[in-house]
Amino acid sequence: MPNSPFDLIVHGGTVIDGTGAARKDADIGITGDRIEFIGDLSTQGAVERLDATGKIVAPGFIDVHTHDDHALLSKPDMTYKASQGVATVVAGNCGISLAPLRFTGDRPPPPMDLLGDGYRFPKMADLFKALDETPPALNAALLCGHTTLRVGAMENLDRGATDEEIDIMRENLAEALDAGAIGMSTGLFYPPANAAPTQEVIRLAALLGPAGALYTTHLRDEGDHLEESLEEAFEIGRASGAKVVLSHHKSAGASNFGGTKNSLALIDRVRKEQDVTLDVYPYHAASTVLSADRVAESSRVIVTWSEARPDVAGRDLSDIAKEMGCTQQEAATALLPAGGIYFMMDEADVQRVLQYPHAMVASDGLPHDIFPHPRLWGTFPRVLGHYSRDLGLLTLEDAVYRMSGLPAAEFGLTGRGTLTTGNYADVVIFDAETVIDRADFAHPTQAAAGIEMVFVNGKPVWRDGQPTGERPGTALRRQALQAAAAS
Ligand code: ZN
Ligand code: CU
Repeated sequence: MPNSPFDLIVHGGTVIDGTGAARKDADIGITGDRIEFIGDLSTQGAVERLDATGKIVAPGFIDVHTHDDHALLSKPDMTYKASQGVATVVAGNCGISLAPLRFTGDRPPPPMDLLGDGYRFPKMADLFKALDETPPALNAALLCGHTTLRVGAMENLDRGATDEEIDIMRENLAEALDAGAIGMSTGLFYPPANAAPTQEVIRLAALLGPAGALYTTHLRDEGDHLEESLEEAFEIGRASGAKVVLSHHKSAGASNFGGTKNSLALIDRVRKEQDVTLDVYPYHAASTVLSADRVAESSRVIVTWSEARPDVAGRDLSDIAKEMGCTQQEAATALLPAGGIYFMMDEADVQRVLQYPHAMVASDGLPHDIFPHPRLWGTFPRVLGHYSRDLGLLTLEDAVYRMSGLPAAEFGLTGRGTLTTGNYADVVIFDAETVIDRADFAHPTQAAAGIEMVFVNGKPVWRDGQPTGERPGTALRRQALQAAAAS
């Protein structure tokens, strides 16, 4: 116990520490950006005391699947995440990262336009520098996207890369890893990347294993060819020696309902031989760029934005098609470039994946959409309130673990994700009785209920239902995380 008073004591709360362990009543003493003590601090002095009686005190959540690259700079309060209890995000998923790329053309090819138009960081080091100079409210770790590498190295994207192009991509990826990126992501489903053969990805991923970096992937096909696509991801993992993170695991399309029974069994078998993990968002609707191909497999499509018809954002594609006197496929094509929400999953699959013991909760939210999928504002409170408390699908301790301790361990975010003496003071205080998502498909940008306070590196970023304006977020670099883990 220190002689000088703590900067802050959170007292009287019930601690869920993020390891999966049962809750216990304890006070938390914070000094500077660290947790200094957990236990009884009833007689201890502090500059500030915060009463958490009746509330849960947990590690600030870690959202390992985000597209927050540009938002970290353009919306630095990160209200849609802080309001959910999130303290740390991993950006650059699905093959699309803001760096390394200086894009000078009209608009980047979809799905890169999901990040907005901020592709002005020719090196990953430039993006880290921007985050250092103008820190956001939350911490961020960065992945380097394969699609971004392709756009930076290739004139013609509808074929595999040549040897020369692969050399350029390897150089750019090496720079990104040196600058601090924690891995590479792919979005092999999407047109600018799906022309890449497995070997192209393996030649890049070869840099990951030796660096202790990871490989995250939006699979080539989450529908009819889910198992083949999983096998491809496992092969890339084995060839590179990197951990494989399966992004937003699902079985997509009405004809594939129930498919996660087989996919999870396959993942379980493979986990005995190689390092594989996955994340999931708690909704049976997907969201990405609009495409006529996906309409047939969806029971309903909502337009999230349209460059051609900005006025239709938030409307059902079926209504727009009726108005235009054409098929939904034709309407989708007429709205491009655009984004959509697709109801194309079975709720039973979503619940099965959420209950899978190694599944991390992550949002995949799209912060630049005009009418976003509600996962952007609702993911974490929805799992805590709807799936854990109301449906009893998992205990509160388990739910918190999948949003904090587990992602910190899987992504190597040393010093975060658990309430442990010496760790960074990333902390959320929430009410287990009232926590719930309020964003839905009709009102997608409403802040959740029950998230009372969020601290990042010891500083409050969310309080009284609004951002505090503090910007204590740190850009997390792979080398520093690995060094801290080794010491
Ligand atoms: Zn994706
Ligand atoms: Cu994504």
